[in-house]
Amino acid sequence: MPADSPGLPEVEELQVSEAQIAVHWKEESFYYPPPSFIGQANASDPAIRDRFTEDKFPQCFKEYADLLTWDEYWHTTLDTSNPPFWRWFVGGRLNASFNCVDRHLRTRPNQAALVWVPELEDEETVVITYRELYRRVNETAAMLRDFCGLKTGDRVTLHMPMVPELPIVMLACARLGVIHSQVFAGFSGAACGGRISDSQSRVLITMDGYYRSGTLLDHKEKADEAVERALAEGQVVDKVVVYRRHPGEYASKTPMVEGRDFFADEVMADHRGKLVDPVSLPAEAPLFIMYSSGTTGRPKGCQHSIGGYLAYVTGTSKYYQDIHPEDTYWCAADIGWITGHSYIVYGPLSLGTTSVMFEGVPTYPDPGRPWRIAERLGVNIFHTAPTTIRMLRKVGPTEPKKYDYHFKHMTTVGEPIEPDVWRWYYEVVGKGEAVIVDTWWQTENGGFLCSTLPGLDGMKPGSAGPGVLGIYPVIYDENGEEVSQGSGRAGNICIRNPWPGIFQTIWGDPDRFVQTYYEKYNKDPKSTDWRDWPYFANDGATQSADGYFRILGRVDDVINVAGHRLGTKELESASVLVEEVAEAAAVPVIDELRGRAVEMYISVKPGADSSDVEEKVAKAIETEIGKVARPKNVWIVPDMPKTRSGKIMRRVIAGISNYTDVGDITTLANPEVVEEIRAHVHSVKEARGEVPKALTEKEAEEIRAFGQAE
Ligand code: WTA
Repeated sequence: MPADSPGLPEVEELQVSEAQIAVHWKEESFYYPPPSFIGQANASDPAIRDRFTEDKFPQCFKEYADLLTWDEYWHTTLDTSNPPFWRWFVGGRLNASFNCVDRHLRTRPNQAALVWVPELEDEETVVITYRELYRRVNETAAMLRDFCGLKTGDRVTLHMPMVPELPIVMLACARLGVIHSQVFAGFSGAACGGRISDSQSRVLITMDGYYRSGTLLDHKEKADEAVERALAEGQVVDKVVVYRRHPGEYASKTPMVEGRDFFADEVMADHRGKLVDPVSLPAEAPLFIMYSSGTTGRPKGCQHSIGGYLAYVTGTSKYYQDIHPEDTYWCAADIGWITGHSYIVYGPLSLGTTSVMFEGVPTYPDPGRPWRIAERLGVNIFHTAPTTIRMLRKVGPTEPKKYDYHFKHMTTVGEPIEPDVWRWYYEVVGKGEAVIVDTWWQTENGGFLCSTLPGLDGMKPGSAGPGVLGIYPVIYDENGEEVSQGSGRAGNICIRNPWPGIFQTIWGDPDRFVQTYYEKYNKDPKSTDWRDWPYFANDGATQSADGYFRILGRVDDVINVAGHRLGTKELESASVLVEEVAEAAAVPVIDELRGRAVEMYISVKPGADSSDVEEKVAKAIETEIGKVARPKNVWIVPDMPKTRSGKIMRRVIAGISNYTDVGDITTLANPEVVEEIRAHVHSVKEARGEVPKALTEKEAEEIRAFGQAE
């Protein structure tokens, strides 16, 4: 670089490829943590960063492991002998249930561990102390062991809503070393069944019903579908344990199946007062499986370890969530997602704090509900997703003012947050008193990857921040060249090093694990040096000159709807189950509230009656995946725009759906169809008042890039 042009990038850096298109936006200015926060923060001395510099890797993570109680201390921090199957804290033995429950009995037996808020406001809040949690986890573990016949290493599928029995069952599994696989309750019976068969679970734990927007939904009917689907895939479920939302009263229309279905409240009667010793397990034994969508059809069962995972979520809960035992912490995510596993259950309880759970919809019965909960319970740490923030801003922009609560700390997670939404969160929800962390990470990661340290770093709206302690992110272009900090160019964000929270493998599919996350930037498949195995996150990002990362979204064909990862292939496979459908393509549309929504493009078989195909496709998606995936629109088209080799050009239809440039169509086999589709889609959108606002440069870039991953 010439001496007279400090800070200017070198010329060759400006010659960017298609994959590194510059993204332009205004740099936001910093907000700083208030002194009141810094004064009490778990991390307020900048020297903490020195303890996690790269020269101290991997030993730096001893600090996290030492937050746990080990039955046997580990001898090897990180074993890299079989990359990328990293083994953390080798030689160590522990139990996650002991760490989240038993070890707090001496210091705080009667402190609230879980506070559960039912959706109906006239139903009373339920407080479960650590001592009570201990009793219930033990009794439930006895039921799982003695009634269900589950033992260490078995898998069990949970399809539970947000009730205290969910974390209790998880901790009871952890006590026995039974691997839990909790499926989000909003997912369909078919989706649950697919996960039962993939994990080979013999037992399903579910509930008869739960409240959403004031209605008691029938949830047990999904269990019947799930068992049927699993059986069709060759997996027999021999016991279904059904918790009752109102014990003694059955909320479902579907009959209990004799000899297969059992009411938990009846079965538990035989296990009252039983104690079950926590099983001492190797650090690398699996704790749970969590399914997540990816590029190809089947969801991936991300397998997380006991020692590495628990150490990582405990450490990050301490420093990034700033949890102290005396805090009242409310993460409004669902435990059916990784956020709930790590930051409602395992991290907070391991630290011995009070973790709040809410059953229902945040805007029910009115948008003041979250703030009434915060006021009533004295919540001082709040954690939610941009979708919820957007929704609450839209329907109750001045509600927070009406309630007397004070947050010291707030989190946003799951999607990029618009600076404007961030500012409402900061000023109105946080009343200008709370720090915000924008935490970027994934199901696969166990815990946070990028975030500011709340007591030490400035916050920049719309940017997640630097890599967290012990995480060294980098942005690579398609050729594996590093995209330099401050260049304004986008690329693929990767993590150069392993970390304790990283998942161990994809359940039953180690090859796909290596291929999806490591093959792209692996320097030498024979190398046992972790430096040769960067983790490819499948997200686009840029890094500004100050080192902060701004996450742009998925680079694979995953559509992030309200923080839920939906694979285009899953949506398309569900659609082609409809008899009349010949071909299906899913694309994202920019959505004011949910971030992204799904639109399906469908071509029907020659001669087929297309009159009710739209509804059939929407229904098929609901049945196969769940209501969360219901498309915003289903477009029946005469033909899909295709390349000469027959590939559907998703970029073109995504451009039409979003009113952006469809790009070059001269190479298509059937360019004439593009105009026809556009005319149809746009006329309907206009009639329905669905014409989107002009996209930002960043959004337009995402739509242009969509479908390129294939
Ligand atoms: C996206 C959720 C921007 C990202 C914990 C990632 C984010 C996917 C953020 C993982 C954030 C998550 N800013 N985007 N703070 N956090 N994402 O597996 O695209 O449900 O790959 O894990 O959500 O979603 P998952």
